[in-house]
Formats: sequence, C-alpha cells, structure tokens
Amino acid sequence: MLYFLRLKENLLSYLACSNCDGSLDLNVSNAEDGEIMEGELRCSSCAAAFPITSGIPRFANLENVESDKRATAAGFGWQWQHFTQEDERYAEQLLGWLAPVTPEFFRDKVVLEGGCGKGRHTQLAARWGAAEVIGIDLSVAVETAFAATRSMPNAHIIQADIYHLPLRRRFDYAFSIGVLHHLPDPRGGFVSLASKVKPGGHLSAWIYGAENNEWITRFVNPVREKITSRIDQRALLQLSKIPAACLFLATKLVYGPLNKNGPGLGKHLFYNDYLSSIAPFGWREQHTIVFDHLVAPTAFYISRAEFETWWCDIGASDVSIGWHNKNSWRGMGVVK
Ligand SMILES: C[S@@+](CC[C@H](N)C(=O)[O-])C[C@H]1O[C@@H](n2cnc3c(N)ncnc32)[C@H](O)[C@@H]1O
Ligand SMILES: [Zn+2]
Repeated sequence: MLYFLRLKENLLSYLACSNCDGSLDLNVSNAEDGEIMEGELRCSSCAAAFPITSGIPRFANLENVESDKRATAAGFGWQWQHFTQEDERYAEQLLGWLAPVTPEFFRDKVVLEGGCGKGRHTQLAARWGAAEVIGIDLSVAVETAFAATRSMPNAHIIQADIYHLPLRRRFDYAFSIGVLHHLPDPRGGFVSLASKVKPGGHLSAWIYGAENNEWITRFVNPVREKITSRIDQRALLQLSKIPAACLFLATKLVYGPLNKNGPGLGKHLFYNDYLSSIAPFGWREQHTIVFDHLVAPTAFYISRAEFETWWCDIGASDVSIGWHNKNSWRGMGVVK
C-alpha cells in the first residue's frame, strides 16, 4: 500500500511550479489503495495551487489555454480516449522514430516524454528500465495514459503544457514523438523540452518532414484545415473510414506483398517507404493513423534545414539527424 504513496513522492522531487519554478507542497485529500487520487500541489513561493484529480497532477487548465492549443488538445484528447488499443508493433515503431536509441539506452535513466498521448511510449520507456519516466500531455489523453501506466511503479503522468513544464532540470533523456509539429511554435516547444534535460543529457525528437510531403501540404492540408479538424470527432471517426479503407486495401494488397522480401518491385510505388512500414498494422491502427492526420488543426511540415537550426539554437552536440521513411525527420543530440 505504501508503495504507491512512495511512487508519488518520487514524482514530487521532479516537479516545480509552472509559474515561478518554486517548490511544491503536497496535500492529500484522498488516497486509494495507497495511491494519491485527489489532492493539491501548492507552490511555496507564489502560492499557485494545482489540483491532483483522478490520480493526475493538473498543471494546465484547458479553459485557460490559448484557443489554438485548446483546439489541438480537444482533437487529440478525443482520439486517444477512443483509440486506446495496444499493438505489439509499437516498440519497433518507436525505435524507428528514436534511432539510434535502443531499449538498453533507457536503463536507469530519468526520462521525460513531451506529449505522451495515450501513454504507449511512456509504458515502453518504463518497461525498458527507466529509473523514472514522466509523460506529460495537455489533453485528456492523460486519462488513458494514466490507466495504461498505473501499475508501473516507475511511470508517472501529468497534465501540462509543453511550453510551461512544471519540472526541474533533472532529466537524463527527453523525447517527443509526433508532437512538436502540432504546436503553434514547434521550435519553442523543442527548446522548452530541452530546457529540462541536464547538461550532457540526451534529447530526441521526431517530426513531419517538408521534403517528399508536397502532396500532403498541397492536397490534404486544405481539407484538414478547413473541414476535418473542425467537424465533430464522432463524425470524423466515420468519415475517416473512407480514406482508411483505401489505405488498408492498398497496404494489404499491394505495398505489403510487393515489399515482402525487401523493397524489390515495391520501390517503384508511390510513398513506398512509409506505406510499406505501416502495412503490417491491422485495421484499427491504420484507422488511428488516418484519423490522427485529419484531426489536428495545426500541422507544420518541417524541412531538414529548419530542424538543424533547432539543434544549433540549443547548442546541442553530437547531433544526428535521419530521414525516416523518406517523409519525416528524427533527431538526437546531447544537450549543453
Ligand atoms: C499525434 S499525438 C502523439 C502522441 C504520442 N507522442 C504518440 O506518439 O502516441 C500529439 C500529442 O501532443 C499533445 N499536445 C498537443 N499540444 C500540446 C501541448 N501544448 N503541450 C503538451 N502536449 C500537447 C496532444 O494532446 C497529443 O496527445
Ligand atoms: Zn509558484
């Protein structure tokens, strides 16, 4: 019973006031099976108070955030409360986004995930032996992430805005997958995440690329911006089944078979690197991918040259940037 209480106290040593960086005092009003479910964190310097509800410390109030961030959080929050499935391929997929990071890299590290969604990667980091992993997200996806990681003593979820992280600079490693390009200022989110990594610690980020995605920026973006990100998510769930069905048939009947024994004939196909990479996923996962692309009000497609400037801006060393599936950029570097 005391185990979970200790877990939350572990978390406390990483938290700081998101207004003034002051230290936080904990008041517990309800603990269930030893885990703090309701309570409050109060800043000892500026007296700001942050509630803990349903087991999650809440540093962001969606009523008060800027409207563009709120719209993004609404779409993704709904998405990750609906598409809660797990898939055995998530580990391999995550390693593709994080390369050259391996599961062993996580061992004994204190890890931060910026924009954890339903917690699938927080879960993997905890499973791969992180000393502690803290997943933060602005949206109600934190409810799903909390449920997914609740039984893991080294995993913690908090609701926070990536621009106002309520955290001390105590992380050995921070990563962010598919989040920064959905922010109003992607570079600003990247810098904020980096600011929580200890000097000499590592940072990884994966973002949509501008290169090879002209067909998306020209034809899909106008539909996403004007229609699909604005309609009710339940309607989008149904509507997105049409492109998802086309994708599913193409990957199962064409891309999968033609790439079965290596690229071979497949290499002549449109967008082959990416589409063959998702061919093994089943219907639900492919539907999630399509929904995910259509629900976001904000999505930037970022060039390699621009991505490189982010790493320069934080003074990172040993930076390695790779073109992933010929449609996105993954980067890793050491924080100054
Ligand atoms: C495409 S999802 C990716 C989730 C997760 N990284 C994954 O790959 O499964 C983008 C996530 O970023 C979160 N997000 C968007 N804006 C954010 C912000 N300002 N601060 C923190 N999280 C944010 C969304 O709520 C959403 O869960
Ligand atoms: Zn404060």
